Amino acid sequence: MDAKLDVLILGSGGREHALGWKVAQSPLVKKLYFAPGNAGTSALGENVKVDVADHPALAAFCRERGISLVVVGPDDLLAAGIVDTLTVAGILVFGPTKAAAEIEWSKAFAKRLMQEEGIPTAASETFSDFRKALVYMKKHLLPLVIKADGLALGKGVIIARTQAEAEQALRDLMLEKKLGAAAEQVVIEEYLEGEEISVHALCAGTDAILFPSSRDHKRIFDDDQGPNTGGMGVIAPVPGVSAATMKEISAKIILPALKALARHGRAFSGLLYPGIMLTASGPKVIEFNARFGDPETEAYMRLMKSDIVPALVASANSSLKGITLEWSKESVASIAIASGGYPGAYEKRKPISGIEEAERAGAIVFHAGTGRNTEGTPITNGGRVLHVTATGKDLPTALTRAYAAAKHIFFSGAYYRTDIGTKEVQRSAR
Ligand code: AMP
Ligand code: GLY
Repeated sequence: MDAKLDVLILGSGGREHALGWKVAQSPLVKKLYFAPGNAGTSALGENVKVDVADHPALAAFCRERGISLVVVGPDDLLAAGIVDTLTVAGILVFGPTKAAAEIEWSKAFAKRLMQEEGIPTAASETFSDFRKALVYMKKHLLPLVIKADGLALGKGVIIARTQAEAEQALRDLMLEKKLGAAAEQVVIEEYLEGEEISVHALCAGTDAILFPSSRDHKRIFDDDQGPNTGGMGVIAPVPGVSAATMKEISAKIILPALKALARHGRAFSGLLYPGIMLTASGPKVIEFNARFGDPETEAYMRLMKSDIVPALVASANSSLKGITLEWSKESVASIAIASGGYPGAYEKRKPISGIEEAERAGAIVFHAGTGRNTEGTPITNGGRVLHVTATGKDLPTALTRAYAAAKHIFFSGAYYRTDIGTKEVQRSAR
């Protein structure tokens, strides 16, 4: 790779700011673009207004500017086939094709693939008929997990603890059609007991390189209470998750999934991110994502020592030959600061202060839902607003630094969890 690259990152979250922060450090990169980006990404490159939903316009933009690599952040763009369109237009793209990304955008497809390949996951069945779903539900032990087949912005999973709750969920999805086409099929699956971790694997065809383990904290309130969110905080690596466990996940989950996809003519390039439950009978897949996690990426980018650009280019070219990823031996913590009311309704356009102070206190702050007002002051523009990340020689040090930095951030209604990593620190001290 001699020629310098112009890189375009698609998306507007903390994940895209963190990827951009890492990509911008590469000596291989000349210019960085974001579409649409946020107030943080505009400090690293140019935020462009091109409509990411208009694939031909996006391809034309890439050709006009001579973009050498496009990195796709969000799942909905993958499901809409953006990689396919750009590839046909002769543009190098990091991310799976629409057919390969079906492992994320259809839970029914992912389940079928796992059953076929013997990949450990919760026992399940898929339904499109309400009556049949009801009969199955009544024959199985509670709790049961009811999932809309398609992408549902984190609202498609219901954990039903009583038959009444399960029946209501099935009615809402299948009769009332509250999630529309996303729930034309519904998966009913066994409830898995255990500790959840996030696994990230850089993939090309049947090859994969795993990142260290991480753990997101999905519920809005401390002690894992309240509704699910996009993710309120991450730690990595997760204390107690051994190299042997990661090897087992690679051998029994990641590699078989890649093999199955390739066999179906859907070879997967990009980032494969299964949510894994560590159960008494071994690691089991909760779901597959076909993209970088958010906020996992904010944490991972702080630990990755290698230049990420050759890795992204290699995966986009469908071969990981010669690629290794080196990681810091430190720990990292990332705390999401959200708008009051999130994941429900919240207000926008609140002026934000304290980002520089937080960074002086030793953190790096990635923007998510932010914009700027006419004076150039950062303002809130989304549910999760900022991700405060810090590293340290161990997890307690990283957490102390991240929380000390988060205290400097202020906007009206700002909210964050105060217990990210607490359980893990207590457990590893025992
Ligand atoms: P998903 O949208 O599939 O990530 O599901 C959201 C959350 O629901 C997951 O992060 C888990 O905490 C929980 N969940 C999903 N499926 C199961 C399951 N089979 N057993 C227990 N918890 C689950
Ligand atoms: N960490 C949640 C997600 O990216 O889906």
